[in-house]
Amino acid sequence: MKMDGLEGFVAAETVLSDVDGERGRLIIRGMTLDQIAGRKSYEEVLALLLQGLVDVPQETAALREALGRARRALAAHLPAIDEALAALAPADALRALIARLPDGEDVQTALRLLAAPAVFTPALMRLREGKRPIEPDESLGHAADMLRMMNATPPNAAQAAALDAYLVTVCDHGLNASTFAARVVASTGSGLTSAVVAGLGALKGPLHGGAPGPVLDMLDAVGRPQDAASWVEQALAGGQRLMGFGHRIYRVRDPRADALRTALDRLAQVGAVDEKRLRLAEAVEAAALAALRRRKPQRRLETNVEFYTALLLEALGIPRSAFTCIFAAGRVGGWIAHAREQRLSGRLIRPQSTYLGPLP
Ligand code: ACO
Repeated sequence: MKMDGLEGFVAAETVLSDVDGERGRLIIRGMTLDQIAGRKSYEEVLALLLQGLVDVPQETAALREALGRARRALAAHLPAIDEALAALAPADALRALIARLPDGEDVQTALRLLAAPAVFTPALMRLREGKRPIEPDESLGHAADMLRMMNATPPNAAQAAALDAYLVTVCDHGLNASTFAARVVASTGSGLTSAVVAGLGALKGPLHGGAPGPVLDMLDAVGRPQDAASWVEQALAGGQRLMGFGHRIYRVRDPRADALRTALDRLAQVGAVDEKRLRLAEAVEAAALAALRRRKPQRRLETNVEFYTALLLEALGIPRSAFTCIFAAGRVGGWIAHAREQRLSGRLIRPQSTYLGPLP
């Protein structure tokens, strides 16, 4: 175990998810990612994730309605989003908006938090463009309503299914940094809102959920497929990390990258993906993997979830500055489940440090 970064350290027991970094396998409550992504709705997976931890309806239609009502109730907060808040980076504004919500551990608090990124993110994006927020439509599924509030038009079935598959793909992932942060907060007896605010604070960093926006910046900087190899070489020679590659746990390709590539291919089948962009991304991915293998043969660096997140969310018309907030809209399910699990079965998390400073 490396103390720096707690690499290899086991800090919780969980029934929620398992990340097998050698085999590239993600299990969520007994099911592999490919059994649920693109096959079950986000609401269905939420019910599964929260089973026995939060008293949400277990029947999908009932949970969909409860979540719709929670989105609807949050519309009351939209007029309070002022210019100063909307001018912040979206992840910072979302964190501030969620921090204003009441704290607690009951089912209503959980539903409000599950709905919050889905309602606040589109509102923030529209206000940044000088447009009025669009109110939630509780009759729609969670993913479809998010896209409708974001783009002002109801999505087609393929678009709604693509975002739904994304939310499922990122809903939980072992003891990642933001989930650990949420569990630490919950372990003190603090409420779910506090745990979610902590999770969001950890998520937005570029080494975690802040990476997909910069993936698109990288594609823009490369410009043409034929320039991918030289651009990548130059970036690595300059000490840059390539966004969307590498992972603390995976030593093989991140299974979430494949799940999102499948979702992207389905979107492409209905002509909703810019083929030129996809060809550029493929060239950059191939160049990056080749260069990373050559430079770090002993440390298998592969494509991670963020690379295809960037392409999928871009194809759905979501601005790159909102990507981390959309990630939060999926991961909030995992944060809440882990926070409850920690509260119900865990102790106060309180590690120690080794003092290296001067003695008195
Ligand atoms: N590009 C270039 N070099 C890299 C990359 C990368 N993407 N990832 C790791 N390396 C290098 C490191 O610089 C290090 O080099 P060194 O030994 O010369 O110092 C070596 O590979 C080993 O790095 P690790 O110790 O394996 O990296 P760590 O486990 O600390 O980091 C991380 C994992 C943060 C994801 C890293 O791979 C990275 O920065 N990737 C880019 C950002 C990114 O895509 N983040 C999203 C991750 S997925 C998620 O959180 C949802």
